[in-house]
Amino acid sequence: MDLATSGSDIEKVIATHEEILARLQELARKVEADYKDRDLLLIGVLKGAVMTMADFSRALQRHVEMDWMAVSSYGSGTKSSGVVRILKDLDRDITGREVLIIEDIVDTGLTLSWLKSNLESRGAKSVEILTMLRKPEAAKVEVEVKYVGFDIPIEFVVGYGLDFNEKYRNLDFIGVLAKHMYA
Ligand code: PRP
Repeated sequence: MDLATSGSDIEKVIATHEEILARLQELARKVEADYKDRDLLLIGVLKGAVMTMADFSRALQRHVEMDWMAVSSYGSGTKSSGVVRILKDLDRDITGREVLIIEDIVDTGLTLSWLKSNLESRGAKSVEILTMLRKPEAAKVEVEVKYVGFDIPIEFVVGYGLDFNEKYRNLDFIGVLAKHMYA
């Protein structure tokens, strides 16, 4: 869905479809250089990372493998608990693999911090992170993110995989959800 169709639900555009694709091309060139002559396994984190995975992987001018995980925060019910439950695990063993986690957003950093350690503990040779968005001011833990699409302020963003009550994932751009939609 495009901006014109989504209408007053969106109060501000963070990145247009063209800007997203251009940024992913830049990141793809960096990843190609960094992983030259190295194997590369992209691990997408469902569901938000679907769009980023689809466009980033197609921007890469090299072979990659792809796998997927689905995780959810666990315990207190708040996303900030830092305890993560695996809803869908990887299909394959990653021992010795060069892993690049693909995410839509790093917010508090708790999910990615947990996921990076989890994948390292399985014997991956390397584990790095690529995220479309990062909210530096929301960080609760330090997590090294090697490839970032856009750093953004603390705002309620939707689109391009990011949802509000499971909607807006199919926007072809990233925008700030208008307050009247959730306040
Ligand atoms: C989002 C996002 C990350 C996590 C980031 O997933 O995809 O996995 O939250 O938040 P954090 O940095 O505060 O840990 P979400 O739980 O919304 O699931 P979804 O991808 O299925 O929408």
